[in-house]
Amino acid sequence: MHRTLSESGSGDASLDAMQPRDAARESLVALLRVAYSAELAAYIAYLGHERSVRDPEEKLAIRRIGREELVHRREVGRMLAALGATPSARRERWMPWVGRLI
Ligand SMILES: [Fe+2]
Repeated sequence: MHRTLSESGSGDASLDAMQPRDAARESLVALLRVAYSAELAAYIAYLGHERSVRDPEEKLAIRRIGREELVHRREVGRMLAALGATPSARRERWMPWVGRLI
């Protein structure tokens, strides 16, 4: 069956199928890059919170939670690598400051 250009979008069915996938991949990579750096900010924020409390048990609990952020960061980093992407160098530079301000 012959299809016209208006029936099939670009006229290339494989290209039509790839574009939404590429757009979805780019959106996912953008979100993961934010998440990767935000996990570092969260870790740094927990370090500051840990320093602000006196109770040893509370300090330990906060430290554990902070370390979980590093686990999350490692997992997000693996997802980025699996997608052939890298963290944002710019966001990696300023997110630690966000963590210090929280
Ligand atoms: Fe997290």
